[in-house]
Amino acid sequence: TEYTVSVDAAGTGPEISEHMYGVFFEDINRAADGGLYAELVQNRSFEYDPADNAAYTGLTGWAPHSGDPRVVDDDGRLNERNRRYLRLDLPAGVINAGYNSGIRVERGERYDFSVWARTTAGSTPLSAALTDPAGRALADPLRIAVRGDGWAKYTGTFTARAASINGRLLVRGEGGGTLSLDMVSLFPRDTFKNRPNGMRRDLAEKIAALDPGFVRFPGGCLVNTGSHHGYEAPDFERRRSYQWKDTIGPVETRATNANFWGYNQSYGLGYYEYFQFTEDVGAMPLPVVPALVTGCGQNQATDDPALLARHIQDTLDLIEFANGPVSSTWGAKRAEMGHPEPFGLTHIGIGNEENLPDEFFARFVQFRAAIEERYPDVTVISNSGPDDTGGTFDRLWQLNREAGVDMVDEHYYNSPAWFLQNNERYDGYDRAGPKVFLGEYASQDNRFRNALAEAAYMTGLERNADVVRLASYAPLLANEDYVQWRPDMIWFNNRASWGSASYEVQKLFMNNVGDRVVPSEATGTPSTLEPITGAVGLSTWGTSAAYDDVRVTAADGTALFADDFSGTDDAWTPIAGQGSWSVVDGRYVQSDAAAENTMVAAGDPAWRDYDLSVKATKLSG
Ligand code: AHR
Repeated sequence: TEYTVSVDAAGTGPEISEHMYGVFFEDINRAADGGLYAELVQNRSFEYDPADNAAYTGLTGWAPHSGDPRVVDDDGRLNERNRRYLRLDLPAGVINAGYNSGIRVERGERYDFSVWARTTAGSTPLSAALTDPAGRALADPLRIAVRGDGWAKYTGTFTARAASINGRLLVRGEGGGTLSLDMVSLFPRDTFKNRPNGMRRDLAEKIAALDPGFVRFPGGCLVNTGSHHGYEAPDFERRRSYQWKDTIGPVETRATNANFWGYNQSYGLGYYEYFQFTEDVGAMPLPVVPALVTGCGQNQATDDPALLARHIQDTLDLIEFANGPVSSTWGAKRAEMGHPEPFGLTHIGIGNEENLPDEFFARFVQFRAAIEERYPDVTVISNSGPDDTGGTFDRLWQLNREAGVDMVDEHYYNSPAWFLQNNERYDGYDRAGPKVFLGEYASQDNRFRNALAEAAYMTGLERNADVVRLASYAPLLANEDYVQWRPDMIWFNNRASWGSASYEVQKLFMNNVGDRVVPSEATGTPSTLEPITGAVGLSTWGTSAAYDDVRVTAADGTALFADDFSGTDDAWTPIAGQGSWSVVDGRYVQSDAAAENTMVAAGDPAWRDYDLSVKATKLSG
């Protein structure tokens, strides 16, 4: 077969935004603490709480070395937002084991230790040691004299003389009386761009190597963390939505919070660090703020005008924090943190995957009106709901269109076949309607064929660059020992990081953004693609899910597969590491919160048509 591609070199297609391809950073899969945020101590402020994760206690991440260390919350606390601390009746000590297999220590590197402490003994000798699990020293220990019963910060630096991937940090007090500790921190001196309180170098460099046009942050479902009530919870309570003001200022004054994805978030990586990082990788910042409607399966809308007004004001303040002069209230805070120059925010997202369309939109228009009045040059991004199979998606698009919204955030996770089939998705989008920010997409696995399908699909995004102005694969990062969602673009543990095949595709596109589409036509393109082997994905996340009566039908209506799960069923095979499923009382039940669950019906010769549709009764989850 001959294939011909004709290019109209003189023709002019749509202009491609220099920001077209970017990244979406969400603190999912422990992407922040234990990931991009370079802090090596887990639970440094003893704030882990069962409300974050039922398995937590204030001592999670820590083990007693000697004595009876206790986490207390009383009037002696460091401050009102950092309420718990560790009390040691001396002599006593504790050991922190970091994340993954432990603290990674590189020979010859320096590690900055700091701790807030006070003592009832007048003066207490405190020692800090970096060791391997057997207690063998990896560096000379630090010896610090803690003086007086008022909180003060003490610091020291280790220089490692041996390497380890399972290091431990031992902190011990000698003598008598009581030693109180909080904010026990260990930071590699070697961070990305050598920023204090900075980013882990290898991960940040992998992101920087993409040359992203923008960074969307901080989530995702994370933005709407917690329940309806969480929006107004006092700032030391758990399950408060992600509120940017909680995340700035000195790290010891940032309240920690429950993360939507089931762990504690320290906010050490907060809004200032996000903006700084975005600038460091040469990208445009694109923050997303909560809209007081919880998407992501929670489906609640806050009906409190005063609270809504406060969130709208917080959003205006955020824009001032990013762009305002140093003479403004929030511009001054940015300058205090070290960045007098504005960060140059031009786009902001309101809400994430809102599946109460009318409730969301009623709030969105109020955010938009307030922002446009004060900052007419900022593009306010709406969203299209959690899926594109109708319902919320159609209704929200209708509302967005009618209200002349500038840009709409779309999300979808589909099979590679879907991406191959839907290359023309945007060819028919209304050129006069809202522009598209494809804020999240991925084909459901981390194999080469997924990357290939995404690359093919991206040619369709680019061909429609007049409609699709921004696009980001999601999620960006996954710590291999704490995975809530897959596939992911970059994987890591405490010692290494590696890009998926999808990472290479993203890099290819991001590093080669054109100015303009050149019209082209291809002939001889194969009209049929190789058969797929019969994988059908029922994608689910969050808590448990159950299905009944699953039917798979070809495009011509032929029934290919049906199962009502009335008996034990071996036709369905969960992919290794992607959750476990079982047949219980005539239902197909997902028994854990894995992200993707692909079920395979083996050896069905009819399964050769890409136009499959899957219909299932979803019973829960
Ligand atoms: O990217 C992972 C999650 O997928 C995001 O948090 C959410 O917006 C979407 O459902």
